[in-house]
Amino acid sequence: MTSESRNMTRRNFIGTGSALGAGALLAGSPLGFAMSGGQKKRLALVGTGVRGTSFWGQYIKENYADAAEFVGLCDINPGRLEFAKSYIGVPGCPVFENFDEMIAVVKPDLVMVTTVDNTHDEFIVKALKAGIDVVTEKPMTTTAGKCQSIVDAARASSAQLIMGFNYRYGMLFTKLKEMLVANDIGEVTSVDFNWYLNNYHGASYFRRWHGIREKGGTLLLHKAAHHFDLLNWWIGSDPVEVHAYGGLEHYGHNNAFRSERCTGCPHKDKCAYFWDIGKDQKMMDLYVNNEHHDGYIRDGCVWRKEIDIFDKMAVQIKYANNVQVAYSLTTYSPYEGFRLAFNGRKGRMETWEGVPSLMDVQEDQSQLHAKEMDQSAHTKAELQYHEIITQSNFGEFERIKSPFIRKAHWGGDPIMMDEILRGRVANSGLHQGSDYRDGAMAVLIGIAARQSIDKGRAVRIDELTDLTPQEDKWA
Ligand SMILES: NC(=O)c1ccc[n+]([C@@H]2O[C@H](COP(=O)([O-])OP(=O)(O)OC[C@H]3O[C@@H](n4cnc5c(N)ncnc54)[C@H](O)[C@@H]3O)[C@@H](O)[C@H]2O)c1
Repeated sequence: MTSESRNMTRRNFIGTGSALGAGALLAGSPLGFAMSGGQKKRLALVGTGVRGTSFWGQYIKENYADAAEFVGLCDINPGRLEFAKSYIGVPGCPVFENFDEMIAVVKPDLVMVTTVDNTHDEFIVKALKAGIDVVTEKPMTTTAGKCQSIVDAARASSAQLIMGFNYRYGMLFTKLKEMLVANDIGEVTSVDFNWYLNNYHGASYFRRWHGIREKGGTLLLHKAAHHFDLLNWWIGSDPVEVHAYGGLEHYGHNNAFRSERCTGCPHKDKCAYFWDIGKDQKMMDLYVNNEHHDGYIRDGCVWRKEIDIFDKMAVQIKYANNVQVAYSLTTYSPYEGFRLAFNGRKGRMETWEGVPSLMDVQEDQSQLHAKEMDQSAHTKAELQYHEIITQSNFGEFERIKSPFIRKAHWGGDPIMMDEILRGRVANSGLHQGSDYRDGAMAVLIGIAARQSIDKGRAVRIDELTDLTPQEDKWA
């Protein structure tokens, strides 16, 4: 966090009557929305889709009843709103199809934004202008102009914006940050980061609005915002320049046959991507049973010609502290996972996830993403290990075992929620809490990459908004 945003959030945090009196509980982070004196935070949620009803809905209702209560739910789809009330477990909660009306009527302490990506800015800016704290799902927004509006609103507001960057709290990612802070491999000079979405999870982005550039900003924002934020956080500096390549060579127009959707598709017997939404009751209740209200089709054909995002992406990023990153995102891999390496002046540190040949086991690829989204507590038997390999220059390699659980985004979701709603900082000194500037720097890399692909040239981060990249992110 910069001095600009830190001063703002510190002031606001004190101003909200937060649990500063809890002392050690909050040491190390000014972020969080905890209330003092047993008061409950009054929550208003906009966007009652799968993420809104599950993690920001039912999970809070069931686990944070002492800290927060739902006072309003908003969505443009009245059927999804009704479903949300019963699924979250708040049958008496007022529902609204108009956000302005919800804010005026229920006067919440905190707005949670879980709508389609290109609409986040509207609710963030309105809440900040009304002096109401906001937590938003990633990506913060989808264009440079919308990003500037959020930055302007955050600077002018007495309220704070927190990004839901849950990956930062995942066990492995936290461990890597600790090792980087400990300077085990010396000053980092470059990072190699390759992320692989499998044919199930990757394809899911091409079935609905994520496949439309205008709605999700492309996967350089919708998906890679998580990865760019991790890089910014690990490296501890701001990005200055981006050069990228991308293409659409697998999904969309790249097939001989297509339909509108999987339901009723005449090609289902020959299509490897056929998905039977009827087998998932929540998908039916949330989407199919409510599509007559707004025409939102959840099982759209991955070969639709309207798909206009990239399905392969390669991004080079240069940072203000001179670190350079080689990043790639693949959306039709036979397995889900990643490879990651930090090259330092004294040595190298690397890790990976999900590569079947290295694990010597073939996991069921169709189930992996569901496990990631599962919020139930993990058992001891489910705990596995990631391997982190470090090797000093001219030295021998060393294998370090780091706990691995896929559930709840590598165990990170509950740790982030504890920080946001209870003000409990699990890893003091690691800067895990993230604010509007962190949200901006993550999407600006994606926006710069998108522009770079379109324009065929490198794009500077300071071309996009009035934010100035800093060598030390937390200076
Ligand atoms: N951090 C994570 O791990 C994670 C995981 C999944 C989704 N997400 C994010 O959560 C958000 C929601 O994703 P989802 O999968 O639930 O999508 P979804 O399509 O299931 O839900 C979006 C909801 O927003 C509603 N909506 C759209 N425009 C609106 C408007 N103008 N006003 C009010 N409501 C509106 C839709 O009707 C829908 O109910 C996205 O921004 C996504 O990036 C984050």
